[in-house]
Amino acid sequence: MVKGFKNASELDFTILSNKEAMLQAFAQVDEEKGQEYPLIIGGRRVMTDEKITSIAPATREVVGKVSSCSKELADKAIRSAHEAFKTWSKVPVEERICCVRRLVELMHRERYILDAWSVEESGKNWGEADGELCEALDFFNSYIMHTRELDKGLELVDSEEATKCVYTPIGVGVAIPPWNFPLSLLAGMAIAAVITGNTVVCKPSSDTPIVAYKFVELCERAGFPAGVISFIPGSGSVIGDFIVQHPLTRFVNFTGSKVVGLRINKMAAEVSEGQRWIKRVVAEMGGKNAIIVDSSADLKRAASGIANSAFSFQGQKCSACSRAIVMSDVYDEFVDEIVACAEELKKQQGSGRDNLPMGPVINKAAFESITGYIEIAGKEGNIVSGGKYDDSEGFYIEPTVVRDITRGARIANEEIFGPVLAVIKAESFDEALEIANDTEYGLTGSVYTEDRTNIQKAKTDFHVGNLYFNRKSTGAVVLQHPFGGFNMSGTDAKTGTRDYLTNFLNLKSVCEDL
Ligand code: SER
Repeated sequence: MVKGFKNASELDFTILSNKEAMLQAFAQVDEEKGQEYPLIIGGRRVMTDEKITSIAPATREVVGKVSSCSKELADKAIRSAHEAFKTWSKVPVEERICCVRRLVELMHRERYILDAWSVEESGKNWGEADGELCEALDFFNSYIMHTRELDKGLELVDSEEATKCVYTPIGVGVAIPPWNFPLSLLAGMAIAAVITGNTVVCKPSSDTPIVAYKFVELCERAGFPAGVISFIPGSGSVIGDFIVQHPLTRFVNFTGSKVVGLRINKMAAEVSEGQRWIKRVVAEMGGKNAIIVDSSADLKRAASGIANSAFSFQGQKCSACSRAIVMSDVYDEFVDEIVACAEELKKQQGSGRDNLPMGPVINKAAFESITGYIEIAGKEGNIVSGGKYDDSEGFYIEPTVVRDITRGARIANEEIFGPVLAVIKAESFDEALEIANDTEYGLTGSVYTEDRTNIQKAKTDFHVGNLYFNRKSTGAVVLQHPFGGFNMSGTDAKTGTRDYLTNFLNLKSVCEDL
């Protein structure tokens, strides 16, 4: 049991003063809309001619324009991070922790405005945005606790020599977070790197660079010295490979698609001229997550949990459920229940600002890809709820339920990353487990059951990094459900844990003969 750690609590927006503060924050966002943002390299602001335009998915309006980093500037950023490492890595742990504690304070102070930017740029609703902010706070507080423990070194057996084993920082990291958790995952990656004495160059997603800028600005205010955390948004095709392959890059922390994750892994494995180490890669990639419903399950509870897992934030979480695998004797009844949930959600679609359960998907490319899958779904099975879409104002897609999908169907195998749920029939619990595991991914899974034998079986045989029973497969809470996947879902580096931090540390064994 972890003692002395308390997870952050989400804001209650039914409280009038909280709601008003949020509305005020949106007014501030509106005032700042359309601004241009610089890169931050070695503490300096650098404006470039080339810009990345951030578009609000709910309205297709321009949120702002962010400088786009060139290779030359990316090289500068990594070199300045390398210089900063020389001093930052020697700063005592408690001083580094002080910066993180000030950041916690600032995040509390700027909470509503950060939430508002996140809603605007990513299209998520208020609760999802604030949940993310809480996750970031939890990462910071857990990493403070773990860093203090790690600073004591590794416990060794008694010997006649003076021995110790100490953790030491490793160098410059590259953080490449995704757009779906633009604050918490960037924050987690950056702070895990720097609290352990490394420096980091952040390349945020081109869909959500402003939230990222606001975060890096707060880090500066918290007192992290120049060069410790740099901000270099840019096109993947221009600087992506370059920063991964740079000889001074020591590690890469990535969350995103499988294709990009595997490319990073491959690029990082190649040794560049002048490189003196084997780069480390922490990668969190996709999922084709399944939830099993057996004959003993409470079907209403299962349908509600599955609807939440499949449709919250429009199914755009790597943890989202995209396959419900249901035993044949309860299949039809379950389909009726999940359709009822989806129909209810369909009525509650609107922008993130409207704070409704269903918002827009992130951008035009996502809209086209997901709606393409809906067309395929109509051919591979029967769409029993949703299936309609409209991008005239924002990128809206109805929560969509497809029944009669067989395990070989594309809808049952390919990651859609949108609000589309395939309902697959299984004749036995063993077959349900077999279908659930029949994927290259292994991120989350859940089982709705009242049967202890099935629970036991799933505990040993359901091959996923995060397994749940009788609850949704999304919303992992730091240090309650350490998060990270198996197989093609990633390197299983469980965020928020002490083990996670050791990815960014060397262990030095020191012995002095007395
Ligand atoms: N950690 C998130 C969840 O559990 C997904 O990234 O939903």
